[in-house]
Amino acid sequence: MENIKVTLTESSKLSELDFDNIPLGKAFTDHMFICDYSEGEWRNPRIEPIHSIPTHPATMALHYGQAIFEGMKATLNADGTPLLFRPMKNAARLNFSANRMGMPELPEEIFTEGLKMLVNLEKSWIPPKEGSAMYLRPFMYADEHFIGMRAATSYKFLIICSPAGPYFSERIKLFAEKQYIRAATGGTGEAKAAGNYAAAIKPTENAKAKGYNQVLWLDAVEHKYIQEVGTMNIFFKIDGKIVTPYRDGNILDGITRMSVIDLLRDKGFEVTERPITIDEVKEASENGTLEEAFGTGTAIGIAYIQEIGTDEGTIHVSDESPVAEDVNDTLNSIKVGAIEDKFGWMVPAE
Ligand SMILES: Cc1ncc(COP(=O)(O)O)c(C=O)c1O
Repeated sequence: MENIKVTLTESSKLSELDFDNIPLGKAFTDHMFICDYSEGEWRNPRIEPIHSIPTHPATMALHYGQAIFEGMKATLNADGTPLLFRPMKNAARLNFSANRMGMPELPEEIFTEGLKMLVNLEKSWIPPKEGSAMYLRPFMYADEHFIGMRAATSYKFLIICSPAGPYFSERIKLFAEKQYIRAATGGTGEAKAAGNYAAAIKPTENAKAKGYNQVLWLDAVEHKYIQEVGTMNIFFKIDGKIVTPYRDGNILDGITRMSVIDLLRDKGFEVTERPITIDEVKEASENGTLEEAFGTGTAIGIAYIQEIGTDEGTIHVSDESPVAEDVNDTLNSIKVGAIEDKFGWMVPAE
């Protein structure tokens, strides 16, 4: 791999950030990582002061949607070392998405080395308060200027960083969507493709207008099998056992999901990945065996689900989520090095 060239900013904006009041998703650090793809090769990996990227009106990503992304977080341990959570999983998932979207794979060492260098450079931007982190957004898009439907021949890969204040897990309400779908077999549901999110915006706004926090996606054919939630995977605790939808190609292979499965099994729970219908969840609620439901994802960690609205009425889940809270505590403690990382998930960004 070529050496990563570093150009430092001459005017850091760090002093402008109020660490007690970080505007979510709106604050960006001083630098970004960027790398170009052309003539069949990734080249010129570099860190530069963050800047706008010139956009030609025929940039293919704008027209044909070849755009994918990742989401991860950097945290600080007690001695101020920045830590990354399972970054190789994000590198692999980016390439899974790239492959599905007809985009070139990125050598994993460019992803991880670029990420580590950037995070290390920006470590003073990582909010130290418990529950805070620096959100990292690696993404790739087609930047060839061309009108015509084919794979682009030039791409850019970037990583930008956005500090995020502590997230307080509120109890959330979901709306089980039957009119619109997120993913169908053979489609792009398992890829982290920008277009998946574009198609989800209108149903999500509709759900919010009805007083819900997020959409609960159901399968495209029968509208009865549960897939996932907005930007989270979903788990249920029914009659003492944990169930989560299995990976049928329509849900994202969540890194929090795979980690929570390991943690729950380690804590002695039986965890099954299988098809789950919305009717099964309704029945469990009615017969008193639905004990908890929770969402898992990088942005929020674990979100406790209070109820699920459907066209036919409300499914009450629970007012407390002791198992989900316990797993959330364990996960957060691992992320800041407060307890032993016995799974070997944390990677120092040094
Ligand atoms: C659609 C969707 N499902 C699930 C997840 C959770 O994945 P992860 O735990 O890797 O953040 C995300 C977030 O990236 C998502 O966007």
